[in-house]
Amino acid sequence: MALIMFIFYVICMLFSSPLVIADDITIEIPTKSNLQTYIVRVNLPRGRVLADSDKLESWYTSFLPAREEADSARLVHSYRNVATGFAAKLSPEEAKEMEKMEGFITARPQKKLSLHTTHSPSFLGLHQNLGLWKSSNYGEGVIIGLLDTGIAPGHPSFDDKDMPPPPKKWKGKCEFTGAACNNKLIGARSFISDGPAGPPVDEEGHGTHTAGTAAGNFVPGANVFGMANGTAAGMAPRAHLAVYKVCSEDGCGDADILAAMDTAVDDGVDVLSLSLGGGSFDFFDDVIAVGAFAAIQKGIFVSCSAGNSGPFNASLSNEAPWILTVGASTTDRRILATTVLGNKDVYTGESLFQPSNFPYESMPLIDAGAGGNETAGLCGPGSLDDTDVKGKIVLCQRGGGVARIEKGQTVKDAGGAAMILMNDELDAYDTVADPHVLPATHVSYDAGEKIRAYINSSSTPWAAITFQGTVIANPSAPTVASFSSRGPSLASPGILKPDIIGPGVSILAAWPVSVDNNTNENATFNMISGTSMSCPHLSGIAALLKSTHPDWSPAAIKSAIMTTAGQLDLEGGPIEDERHLPADVFALGAGHVNPSSANDPGLVYDLQPEDYIPYLCGLGYTDDEIRTIVQQSVSCSNITSVPEVQLNYPSFSVKLGPATKTYTRTVTNVGEANSTYSVEVNRVKGVDVGVTPGTLSFTKVNQKMTYEIKFSKSSTRVNATFVQGAIVWRSEKRAVRSPISVKLV
Ligand SMILES: *[C@@H]1O[C@H](CO)[C@@H](O)[C@H](O)[C@H]1NC(C)=O
Ligand SMILES: *[C@@H]1O[C@H](CO)[C@@H](O)[C@H](O)[C@H]1NC(C)=O
Ligand SMILES: *[C@@H]1O[C@H](CO)[C@@H](O)[C@H](O)[C@H]1NC(C)=O
Ligand SMILES: *[C@@H]1O[C@H](CO)[C@@H](O)[C@H](O)[C@H]1NC(C)=O
Ligand SMILES: *[C@@H]1O[C@H](CO)[C@@H](O)[C@H](O)[C@H]1NC(C)=O
Ligand SMILES: *[C@@H]1O[C@H](CO)[C@@H](O)[C@H](O)[C@H]1NC(C)=O
Ligand SMILES: *[C@@H]1O[C@H](CO)[C@@H](O)[C@H](O)[C@H]1NC(C)=O
Ligand SMILES: *[C@@H]1O[C@H](CO)[C@@H](O)[C@H](O)[C@H]1NC(C)=O
Ligand SMILES: *[C@@H]1O[C@H](CO)[C@@H](O)[C@H](O)[C@H]1NC(C)=O
Repeated sequence: MALIMFIFYVICMLFSSPLVIADDITIEIPTKSNLQTYIVRVNLPRGRVLADSDKLESWYTSFLPAREEADSARLVHSYRNVATGFAAKLSPEEAKEMEKMEGFITARPQKKLSLHTTHSPSFLGLHQNLGLWKSSNYGEGVIIGLLDTGIAPGHPSFDDKDMPPPPKKWKGKCEFTGAACNNKLIGARSFISDGPAGPPVDEEGHGTHTAGTAAGNFVPGANVFGMANGTAAGMAPRAHLAVYKVCSEDGCGDADILAAMDTAVDDGVDVLSLSLGGGSFDFFDDVIAVGAFAAIQKGIFVSCSAGNSGPFNASLSNEAPWILTVGASTTDRRILATTVLGNKDVYTGESLFQPSNFPYESMPLIDAGAGGNETAGLCGPGSLDDTDVKGKIVLCQRGGGVARIEKGQTVKDAGGAAMILMNDELDAYDTVADPHVLPATHVSYDAGEKIRAYINSSSTPWAAITFQGTVIANPSAPTVASFSSRGPSLASPGILKPDIIGPGVSILAAWPVSVDNNTNENATFNMISGTSMSCPHLSGIAALLKSTHPDWSPAAIKSAIMTTAGQLDLEGGPIEDERHLPADVFALGAGHVNPSSANDPGLVYDLQPEDYIPYLCGLGYTDDEIRTIVQQSVSCSNITSVPEVQLNYPSFSVKLGPATKTYTRTVTNVGEANSTYSVEVNRVKGVDVGVTPGTLSFTKVNQKMTYEIKFSKSSTRVNATFVQGAIVWRSEKRAVRSPISVKLV
């Protein structure tokens, strides 16, 4: 199993090739006295309920080895809600010794999971004094908990202007001293076990950015290098924030993540947002899945990033069906930088850094890789020192484990005037507006190949670069970002993942330090990309829906978000991927989030926590494995297990052989009492899909109705492994859509 988790932006922001960076991350093992943080699971003493947390802790402490130092030096976390057990500093020998003790179940070393806006509200149809923002009162009264790198308190995005005090149920703590916490930032704690203790200050920027995206207050005049200037606001600008620091520069310890989720569940958060994760894990061995299950049992909605390992198939993280798995898409805002070649070809690219004093005149153009040296072509550090690039525009290739901005630094250090950064083939047309350190433009692979051919064909190649600033008019938006992880799910192939996509490319939000030295020293912003950025968009939207529909379960909110998602871009064509080809269900999930429609879905596919037990039995997990997740004794032999696809999920992922497959779904009417829906099947190539009944007539609010859906191979043979389609329940006013993926076997 990969001992790695990602804060899902680092990869994108700093490295163009996620696979390469994944290899670069190593596990930190504390060298001091050979002690590591272990997660230890135990049983409660026979016949006793330890409601009192002191008694619980002394039971946990009884497992610790005989020792000289105080127990508090060894016991790192005592779990209460998400697990029966604790985290402790142990040597491998001590962990082994513990196996003999009565009540011991398992112990394993902590895994290091590595860390995977001015415009996105309006792009998503959220406007001041209108619609969902108005009806939800901007998410007022809702608490969003974020597990991340901490926060920069005092940033204007976390000002508590117009914020009411936290709701009475709030029990969390603030570890900052003074007035750092307020009615916006109501809680802040650190759970870092490997490293210096201290308040949850954000040293990375990631946690400040995700918190600002989820629930930052309105900040006028937010910009980076003067670009994307406007009023920055999170998705739920009146929601409260509680931050749980679980990641540092060493990554995110999973014992610490589990402890933070354990605490958040007690503190009274309504939504949990996790822009981090690992690869695909079995759910019982995935602390985020385990912690999230405890959360949904208390009605807490959990939103997680899908991962930045796209465009490769089956590259998802956070696949549990009780989690919302969020992929990333572009918005219609671009920060344009155009290059004109000596042959009069013009290519449009992007850069956040747009110097006003860069002359628009022809300069010699050179391909850094022209000599055939791969490192030089990638503009790796120092690779151009022996090349004459002085006063020239240098073409560099994306990828190779060298950060995009670092490539610019290489060119700048060697005396180059500007950089054209061309994509690698996989990233195709996906470009990013980065805060480059010199005049630059990031162009597509296609454009890059043409520029290289021009350089190769000319004895005196030249180019000029000109900057157009912020342009909000990209009709092909949204597109799925190349880095956005893709399905199918490995942990549970019968559940279609990701669930949804939302804005995650070139997102402007709060940053602890200035990246351009020019802005108001306290109101600093940065523009970064990743599924880490799309996840808090959905967390904020879930907070708005919690506010308008306090009685909805986490599954109902998720269903509302998924069945109302969009499939079309601004031009009215299908949403495309980085190749400019229609994105498939494994990239899109249910589609692009539409917050206003999600507020009024008509029907929802609801689920209660206990509904997942027959599903988990159906996955083939043992009773003990399921108990780890659901925190109660389960006997699969005593209940009717169901196949994964039978879970009442708002999408379908079916494996189809010669035999017909039949499943049922139950929908709950959350629209008008009297409403009638008729089914429409969007063709699935090579598969016959039959739905009975074809019409559902409701007469009451919250009335439930069940339908049956049959899948069978049609007589036309199809040469494909996966085929896709959808079913839509349509009323006069609404369309309730569920995507379908069928694997033909
Ligand atoms: C940002 O917009 C505001 C309001 O339109 C304006 O006052 C301010 O000068 C702008 N800032 C920049 C850097 O363009
Ligand atoms: C992913 O799978 C789809 C469908 O099976 C295939 O068309 C596509 O080429 C695959 N993509 C990658 C990056 O492997
Ligand atoms: C390519 O350039 C790098 C950096 O200048 C150098 O270290 C390396 O030896 C070169 N590789 C080849 C194959 O010449
Ligand atoms: C450059 O041009 C030469 C001669 O036309 C050709 O053989 C070579 O493949 C070209 N190289 C590139 C990188 O296009
Ligand atoms: C910001 O200031 C630092 C230190 O003064 C300097 O090294 C850096 O180049 C500046 N960055 C920009 C983008 O001007
Ligand atoms: C930044 O914040 C400090 C402390 O809150 C305050 O004294 C200072 O005036 C602020 N600076 C600006 C430029 O707003
Ligand atoms: C399973 O059901 C049987 C009969 O109802 C009961 O005796 C047994 O205790 C149950 N086992 C578990 C683990 O719940
Ligand atoms: C629903 O329709 C029934 C029969 O047409 C009618 O009696 C009832 O008043 C309607 N209910 C509502 C809430 O409109
Ligand atoms: C199915 O598609 C593959 C790849 O597209 C092709 O190589 C193969 O010949 C096709 N088989 C049939 C029976 O058409």
